[in-house]
Amino acid sequence: DKGSTGTGSNGGGGGKKLTLGFSQVGSESGWRTANTESVKSAAQEAGFTLKFSDAQQKQENQISAIRSFIAQKVDVIAFSPVVVTGWDAVLKEAKAKNIPVVLTDRSVETSDESLFVTLVGSDFTDEGRRAAKILEKVLEKAGHKGPVKIAQLEGTTGAAPAIERAKGFKEVMDAEHKDDWKIVVSQTGDFTRAGGKQVMSAFLQSNPDIDVLFAHNDDMGIGAIQAIEAAGKKPGKDILIVTVDGVKDGFVAMSEGKINAIVECNPLLGPQLMEVVQKVKNGEKVERWVKTEESDFLQEQAKDALPTRKY
Ligand code: AHR
Repeated sequence: DKGSTGTGSNGGGGGKKLTLGFSQVGSESGWRTANTESVKSAAQEAGFTLKFSDAQQKQENQISAIRSFIAQKVDVIAFSPVVVTGWDAVLKEAKAKNIPVVLTDRSVETSDESLFVTLVGSDFTDEGRRAAKILEKVLEKAGHKGPVKIAQLEGTTGAAPAIERAKGFKEVMDAEHKDDWKIVVSQTGDFTRAGGKQVMSAFLQSNPDIDVLFAHNDDMGIGAIQAIEAAGKKPGKDILIVTVDGVKDGFVAMSEGKINAIVECNPLLGPQLMEVVQKVKNGEKVERWVKTEESDFLQEQAKDALPTRKY
């Protein structure tokens, strides 16, 4: 449904400016930095007053930010929930005050679907499936024969992208590689470089014969590369690496041969989000899930793609 009415009432032209309260997860990764910039610049472009709050990866901080947006009577609340559960109470408070809530990037689990209007973001389950599919190509190109021992660096425990990327990857693995692929270790690195490095060095101690690393984001993959090199191994050769996001540093590592493939997750959600926020404020109908378009990249595409990467 595209909605029908013409010009926005509160955005660019005349009238009272639309006030948007936005609660961000934190600044854990390159992806998040790009996402924050996109939200801030798109809000400015749309002529909205943005109240921005950084939760530093803590749910309680997001809940207080949302409560403060409610108290300030913002027009619309948008947030990227750090974890999927535990939102019903605060979302009910917003609903009681008739403040619409738009989710962006990550989704929530709720028993009452009316507590948020829409989600603007990626299909993380599909990203997990795409990671498994591109790993097939990576293994083939590397000439890998026989069983595949996989280490998985998970994102933040309880976060939608961590749950869903693991799920999508496992789905393909169970359906098509039951006999040859095995996840031998899997642990959270909290979507950070430091987490990726620390957990990967522990993995290498307990499982020195890992063939593949699937990292739920580039930053953890880059941290893991440091751990792999410190252990005297070659990332991208001795251990094949697939990551998610496609931030510049990920592409740099891929063009150096240290990451084998990247599944893109687009952080530039700002413009789409502002469009949806304006429609919601206008009372127009919006889709329940506004999905983001993404691509996959193999190593040989890295050098060509690098100069045109926008984040
Ligand atoms: O929710 C999106 C994920 O959060 C990104 O893949 C990761 O880098 C970020 O921290």
